[in-house]
Amino acid sequence: SRVAVLMGGLSAEREVSLVSGRECAQALREAGFQVIEVDADRDLCARLSEIQPDVVFNALHGRWGEDGCVQGMLEWLGLPYTHSGVLASALAMDKARAKEAYRAAGLPIVESRLACTAEVKARHVMPPPYVVKPNNEGSSVGVYLVQDAANSPPQLGADMPEVVMVETYAPGRELTVSVMGERALAVTDIITTGWYDYDAKYKPGGSRHVVPADLPQEITAACLEYALRAHRALGCRGLSRTDFRWDESRGLAGLILLETNTQPGMTPTSLSPEQAAQCGISFPELCRWMVEDASC
Ligand code: DAL
Ligand code: MG
Repeated sequence: SRVAVLMGGLSAEREVSLVSGRECAQALREAGFQVIEVDADRDLCARLSEIQPDVVFNALHGRWGEDGCVQGMLEWLGLPYTHSGVLASALAMDKARAKEAYRAAGLPIVESRLACTAEVKARHVMPPPYVVKPNNEGSSVGVYLVQDAANSPPQLGADMPEVVMVETYAPGRELTVSVMGERALAVTDIITTGWYDYDAKYKPGGSRHVVPADLPQEITAACLEYALRAHRALGCRGLSRTDFRWDESRGLAGLILLETNTQPGMTPTSLSPEQAAQCGISFPELCRWMVEDASC
């Protein structure tokens, strides 16, 4: 069948998506599909009407591609697409509302609130350490950490939205779990020398992934279970990836769910493909499964 791979797009994660998209397109060709690569621009709707694919493989990240917008357009066109639908995508991308869903599902999260950028710049809106981030971006774009009260309030850049998310900083190890359909795949321990920011995520040697993570059995089990519960609480479909921090000095109580990504990074060395490989699922097999799982 003919698969259109959407990549690039209009978000701050455009470059990441171009890499994800090209790699997925290549893997899908290896898996025997006829692939059309589509850099998603404003004319996307017209282009898809022209291409008439059987399935759309969504390799977009960030706003418009991960937040329900593109998903709504694909519903409108009647084209089956990979990953989550409109509501789950919108819910996961809105960090404040996603937290409400996690709380209702009994999942462990840190305290947070929405605040105006002006207020955040003027004073500490919660006791440090805390993190300020856009309510709807990924890849650590626009994330500020305030370590302690001696630091002045963060001088947010002009590109920050008017309302931002402020949350208690959760210290500890960076863990992540992908869910593929109804199966939590594996836990990865992400080892960085500093903050796991955009560069650590995407520069060669920026971080090291240990999969399966070397953790107490109880923590591994909790991560797998929480990721599956988060996937269900948001109503996700196909592949998702839920990120955690674990403060090992506090045992199970130190495990915090940070967020769920409904369009996780999809290069062969990204976290989800590595976890699939750990379960014996190759990158082309993962991409094939996603196409077969697509719906609208
Ligand atoms: N937002 C990036 C692509 C991820 O979560 O993998
Ligand atoms: Mg994210």
